[in-house]
Amino acid sequence: MKIITLLNEKGGVGKTTLATHIAAGLAVRGMRVLLVDADPQGHATVALGLQKEPGLYDLLVRNVPFKSVLRVIPPKAYQVPNLAVNGQLVLLPSNVETRNIANSISDSFAVAERFRELEGTMDLVVFDTSPTPSLLHGSIYIATDGVLYPTTCEYLSFDGLVESIKHRQAAEAHRKQWGLNAIEVLGIVPTMYRTKTIEHSENLKQLREQFGALVWNPISQRTIWAEAAAIRRPVFSFAPESLAARDAWELVNRVQEGLARVG
Ligand SMILES: Nc1ncnc2c1ncn2[C@@H]1O[C@H](COP(=O)(O)OP(=O)(O)OP(=O)(O)O)[C@@H](O)[C@H]1O
Ligand SMILES: [Mg+2]
Repeated sequence: MKIITLLNEKGGVGKTTLATHIAAGLAVRGMRVLLVDADPQGHATVALGLQKEPGLYDLLVRNVPFKSVLRVIPPKAYQVPNLAVNGQLVLLPSNVETRNIANSISDSFAVAERFRELEGTMDLVVFDTSPTPSLLHGSIYIATDGVLYPTTCEYLSFDGLVESIKHRQAAEAHRKQWGLNAIEVLGIVPTMYRTKTIEHSENLKQLREQFGALVWNPISQRTIWAEAAAIRRPVFSFAPESLAARDAWELVNRVQEGLARVG
């Protein structure tokens, strides 16, 4: 079982969109995937058509068993027309109580210890995180094998990216003390990219100068992403022939390749 986390301390850059598409796409491909909504906003929960509830809080603070908090997502919610779903998508939901987890867990191993119980029943765990750093993020860093950084090609998003990288590096020191490997950086994914704006293309160039091959192909800004979100379906399920769906599958492919290096 591998654990990956989507991070950027700037809000609204595509963390939840990418997390849900990666989780659903890899479930279609045959993996048993758990998407963990670790954001008090509960947007990953809502994006998969479920009600917000304190799943992660119950698990980590009230010590509730996994079987009481996991929610299996029906394949019809994310399947691609004429393509069998070969794996399974499961969600650990969130609500506003997630905000209180950081004050209630006793140590930074809380997440790693609980999620170890899933070994053998899940192939991949994907954490969608909130933009505001907290001690919960610290605990997720200890559990994580790989990170993916979505970012828009704008200054404030880059600032959020840099802050997230600093926090990961601080967490690495902590991991080292406990004999844990460094976290694999899967990549930096430019999102909501506007091809025709000079600002975006200049900023993308700058990002590539700084991070080189870690920067993946940008995902273009297209209305269909928001339309699909509004009816709580992934773009490849809602509009399988669209350019957005093509971008989403390219993302899923790249994550699948990256997972071979992780853990
Ligand atoms: N490629 C895209 N083109 C157009 N809209 C997009 C694209 N990707 C995401 N969006 C939209 O942008 C908004 C923000 O995306 P999302 O919720 O995934 O960001 P986030 O980083 O998870 O935000 P937060 O930090 O609040 O959790 C959503 O309404 C989503 O539908
Ligand atoms: Mg989000």
